[in-house]
Amino acid sequence: MKETISVLIPEKEIEKRISELAEEISKDFDGKTITLICILKGGVMFMVDLAKKIKQNVEFDFMDVSSYGNGKESSGNIKINRDLENPIEGKNIIIIEDIIDSGRTLNYLYRYLKDKKPLSLKICTLLDKPERRVFDIHVDYKGFEIPDEFIVGYGLDYAEKYRNLPYIGILKNE
Ligand code: IMP
Ligand code: MG
Repeated sequence: MKETISVLIPEKEIEKRISELAEEISKDFDGKTITLICILKGGVMFMVDLAKKIKQNVEFDFMDVSSYGNGKESSGNIKINRDLENPIEGKNIIIIEDIIDSGRTLNYLYRYLKDKKPLSLKICTLLDKPERRVFDIHVDYKGFEIPDEFIVGYGLDYAEKYRNLPYIGILKNE
């Protein structure tokens, strides 16, 4: 089977939307230090580009999680492959995700991080597939709502491929 990718969101549009999100975040936190927690690996490109545009001091931390279950659908069981390096108690935290699909990952992560008593805890995702939602998640900062298609590029992969594409595309097997 041949894999083809059609552009859904071009590079320029991603850049423009990230500038708007960074401005919103900079205003909301008004000079206060923020810690961005990047969910590896998909959130990397997004976090780097967003952080460069935020006006105040930004700290970075990273988590890697996977959900395990049968077949393609993730189960509610989340495994932490890499945990935070630093405590987050009393800090302003923004979780940086590539995409929210069922919401399982973030539903788990939000509660996991909330227990660590941050001063504030927000969710920022580049992409959102609302049609696929199973868990109700309050998203504070959202790049784009997209249809229920399989997406690659700008951090997102298919079997570890296509993460370095500068645009967001729809992957089809033909
Ligand atoms: P959720 O727990 O079902 O919300 O799944 C979220 C995770 O699944 C994301 O962080 C992605 O790693 C992955 N994912 C969901 N949809 C896509 C897609 O269209 N392309 C690539 N990865 C996806
Ligand atoms: Mg992910």
